Amino acid sequence: SGHGRLVVAVDGPSGSGKSSVCRAAARRLGAEYLDTGAMYRAATWYCLETGVDFDDESAVAVAVEETPLSLSTDPDHQKVWVGESDVTHAIRESRISEAVSAVATNRQARSVLIAEQRRLIDAAGFVIAEGRDITTVVAPDAQVRVLLTASAEARLARRGAELGGGQSAEALQRQVIERDVRDSAAANFTEAADGVAVLDSSELSFEETVDSLVGRIESVQ
Ligand code: DC
Repeated sequence: SGHGRLVVAVDGPSGSGKSSVCRAAARRLGAEYLDTGAMYRAATWYCLETGVDFDDESAVAVAVEETPLSLSTDPDHQKVWVGESDVTHAIRESRISEAVSAVATNRQARSVLIAEQRRLIDAAGFVIAEGRDITTVVAPDAQVRVLLTASAEARLARRGAELGGGQSAEALQRQVIERDVRDSAAANFTEAADGVAVLDSSELSFEETVDSLVGRIESVQ
């Protein structure tokens, strides 16, 4: 319906509900959905699979460059492959979450993945791309740029619900904080850059957050 080319860039910390919110918004609007975190995770999966030494920065960069990565941008069929391997579920394992910062903090690896993200965004007509540096580095010229935030309390509560309450509050808090510190070493997503709107979901339900994002996108269509 005359979207032409419309790029929506969304950044935010882990536990902000970014992925589910963006996927739901894309589904509702008939847009494509690009999960850039999945690309960092898939590259990390390949590094582990090929036994790359994570302390060797150039070896990590070479492995990321060689990763035969493909992913679907259909919000109803989120699939990630490395070569012939469907790694959709494997990239969510904690061994990946623990190792991924070696890829995310590697400058050369980032530039390889950023180039691929730009290619995928350019190939899409109407796309919601989410990550940590989409509004600032990958697609700073996107028509809609949003920083999706949530208070530490809200993120902790959501993460706790996800894990089924099997962990102590302190352990969860430590994990969330450690994750933020590690992630912010790679990209600054804690403050909105110029022209980036902040959507704080702390006091919003999931549906209300999706409504708000959809509303912002519809207002520029
Ligand atoms: O959003 P996520 O948890 O799936 O992201 C996985 C890791 O990749 C996380 O440690 C942050 C990093 N990442 C990044 O540095 N830049 C992006 N655009 C997306 C993710």
